Amino acid sequence: MAPIDPHSYTDSTHPLTTHISLTFYFDFPSSTIFSSALLTLSAPHSGEFTVDTRSLSITAVLDPTTRTPLPFTLQNPNPILGQSLTITLSNQSQFLIISKTSTSSSALQWLSPPQTFNKSFPFVYTQCQAIHARSIFPCQDTPAARIKYSAKLNVPRFLSAVMAAKHVNRRDPVVGETQGACEDSLWCGDGRIVEEFVMEQPVPTYLFAFAVGELGFREVGPRTRVYSEAVPGVLDAAAREFAGTEDMINVGEGLFGGYEWERFDLLVLPPSFPYGGMENPRMTFLTPTVIKGDATGAQVVAHELAHSWTGNLITNKTNEHFWLNEGFTTYAERRIVEAVQGKERAVLNVGIGWRGLVEEMERFKDNLEFTKLKTNQEGVDPDDVYSQVPYEKGFQFLWRIERQIGRPAFDEFLKKYIATFKFQSIDTDIFIDFLKANVPGIENQIDLKVWTEGTGIPPDAMEPVSEIYTKIVSLANEFKIGRMPNEDEVADWGGQEWELYLENLPKSVEASQVSALDARYRLSESKDYEVKVAFLHLAIASRCSNYYSEVEKTLKEVGRMKYLRPLYTALIQGIGKEEEKIFAKRVFSEACACYHPIAQGVVEAIFAKHM
Ligand code: BES
Ligand code: ZN
Repeated sequence: MAPIDPHSYTDSTHPLTTHISLTFYFDFPSSTIFSSALLTLSAPHSGEFTVDTRSLSITAVLDPTTRTPLPFTLQNPNPILGQSLTITLSNQSQFLIISKTSTSSSALQWLSPPQTFNKSFPFVYTQCQAIHARSIFPCQDTPAARIKYSAKLNVPRFLSAVMAAKHVNRRDPVVGETQGACEDSLWCGDGRIVEEFVMEQPVPTYLFAFAVGELGFREVGPRTRVYSEAVPGVLDAAAREFAGTEDMINVGEGLFGGYEWERFDLLVLPPSFPYGGMENPRMTFLTPTVIKGDATGAQVVAHELAHSWTGNLITNKTNEHFWLNEGFTTYAERRIVEAVQGKERAVLNVGIGWRGLVEEMERFKDNLEFTKLKTNQEGVDPDDVYSQVPYEKGFQFLWRIERQIGRPAFDEFLKKYIATFKFQSIDTDIFIDFLKANVPGIENQIDLKVWTEGTGIPPDAMEPVSEIYTKIVSLANEFKIGRMPNEDEVADWGGQEWELYLENLPKSVEASQVSALDARYRLSESKDYEVKVAFLHLAIASRCSNYYSEVEKTLKEVGRMKYLRPLYTALIQGIGKEEEKIFAKRVFSEACACYHPIAQGVVEAIFAKHM
């Protein structure tokens, strides 16, 4: 037994799964999915075969043709990996697993009708990256395995389903098609409908995704619709926000090669969605907090779109090489932003990213492993070490190579890299070998080992230079000596300018200064969560307790971890914060039912670390 990935029980001596046929019956009253999964392997196998599971009950494992039960054992749970399921095969390349999810299935958030916008119907959606797909169905849950799949989702007729896959049919249920997921009488019960999907391109399991609810959509481009809960106001605002998507796809195709996924639809999720965006193929998932009518919505879409090439076409082989996904995507995102929003905007994003990178160095000062690009994640939960490092240090590495060889050569190199490795899962060494082979002598010009294996920020990384960026940083420095920017200076500032300004202020300042800044610019009331949260963070760090009710309100209305993490951490980190700790615990206990399970886990980990 040799694992191929520290986050999976997949065994190097076993064949990999190539196809999964899924049958799901959604039972909303009990928040359960009854499912069957038919796994097809690349070759017949005899003896033990291991897959990953988490919080699933396994009802049976069957030979699909004879329906005879196959022996299996389910190991005790490991807190990070879940439970391995070991099946004994005899020269078989297919087997069927009947299982059901539980309320602790970490990929799934079930919203009751009162938790939705329209308050009339339930809603459920997934978040599988990095290692949560195994909590929906048993699988070799490693990005080293690329799998095609088909899925039948049986849902109440008043709901509809979307997936990160091609929609092929919405039709009545048929007797005899459950593959053992549930009884035919349940499957064909009154008021049920089947939504069918196929994913014809091989993808890693972390890109598996669906949402079921009362959904509506608007057309926003020739290959793009935006979906969300059927609320006309939300749909219209989303359609306006993302109107420029087709232009961005065209820019992406010019830079990185043809768009391989046919459609690029968007799904706007409820406010509890734990990320800004998730690059589920054909159906990007988005937080509603990006809809605010400025440049950021497009920026997040540019990022998730860029993953269509870097991440979804070329995938990190394990999460230890996550920078190959996010560093490349951050670079690609900024090239798209530069093309559609101009150089100034792109440079500002580089600046915000630089600040983020510097801050992560502080966060990981006692755990330098996670300041590296290539990390050792043995015994590590990816959700606990999620950071800006793979994004921003990865970006810096690629930008450094671009500076060395010039943009035209780097563009050619990127195109060739994507064409060479598309639909493959690769690691850092494969990238480095490809780089050396295609840019001869690069290892004499850039210390590739320092970049990929070293800790901290390499000496040849670069803070961006631009007039706006420099101006904002110097205004932030002047705040330290008591000068606030005047109205003229901030007249044309949008959310990103304010974000950069706030992030460059000292960690904590006088409480009176915080209030004075807010009295003039009303940052605590900003509709832009990036600005609001950056301000509230400063307020907490400065012990400005008159903002705590606003903090509470914010923690209860959004579940995006980018906001939860800094706010909870600022409240409970440090000494002499008894009141804040009690306050944070109370708010969490009242808010956590609305958070996605992944976000609940991350906030619990913050409490465990600091209390
Ligand atoms: N793939 C990530 C989100 C993710 C990473 C989910 C790791 C689970 C585990 C996505 O592409 C992303 O980076 N989202 C960013 C968007 C931003 C960089 C524009 C986010 O959510 O903040
Ligand atoms: Zn990303």
